[in-house]
Amino acid sequence: MRKPIIAANWKMNKTVKKAVAFVDDLKKQLSNYTGVEVVVCPPFTALNKVSEVLKESNIIVGAQNMYPEPAGAVTGEISPLMLLDLGCDYVIIGHSERRTLFNETDETVNKKLKCAFTYRLRPILCVGEYLEQRDAGKAEEVVYNQLIKGLADIGKDDIVRMVIAYEPIWAIGTGRTATPEDANAMHKFIRHILSEIYDQKVAAKVRIQYGGSVRPDNIDDLMNQSDIDGALVGGASLDVRSLVRIVKFKREIA
Ligand code: 13P
Repeated sequence: MRKPIIAANWKMNKTVKKAVAFVDDLKKQLSNYTGVEVVVCPPFTALNKVSEVLKESNIIVGAQNMYPEPAGAVTGEISPLMLLDLGCDYVIIGHSERRTLFNETDETVNKKLKCAFTYRLRPILCVGEYLEQRDAGKAEEVVYNQLIKGLADIGKDDIVRMVIAYEPIWAIGTGRTATPEDANAMHKFIRHILSEIYDQKVAAKVRIQYGGSVRPDNIDDLMNQSDIDGALVGGASLDVRSLVRIVKFKREIA
């Protein structure tokens, strides 16, 4: 059984004060709630304080990006060692906003994944297609290439520790969610690719999240699909009530 995982990607939002107040409240509301792994990914500036607040809780801290070197002359970047120092377990890699705004390629993504594993961080690898690519019937091809290149030379022991997030770019921040059936079809396809790269046993263990306009009113339908193991949530994770409702999704399937 794959443990569901809901991750909050706050992107470039919240001051330290607001972040601390949020996780303080979240921690109280989710105390004793253990069936779901909950990850909060604040901006770098709030990681330290957020980790302090969440230290004794069951909520895990993640970063939104990292540079693939432990230290060096790289102005403005953050290393995996620094993230560990700030209490991070997870790190989001290859988010579409980084691919689009900062020209991150699959090769960069691959370097970052390898480096994250070296330092025992757990990556959440984001993949997903543009609307034009979906409309042209190329969604699977795009995701296939992102996975094959992104996961090059990543071993079995590492892949089972990481999470893959399928985030169709046209659904991010647009209010337009993929239908649960369409999302699940892509998740199945991703699992199929994993079974080709590794094997079926490994593929069955990897958790695949959906991301893109996930909200309290659509999470239940998404989580009732066979291959959707959680969500990577942007906008709707900025409000505690909304995030708590998403974490407490109602699932009928076993
Ligand atoms: P929204 O939930 O705001 O659409 O963002 C999704 C996302 O990009 C999460 O990483």
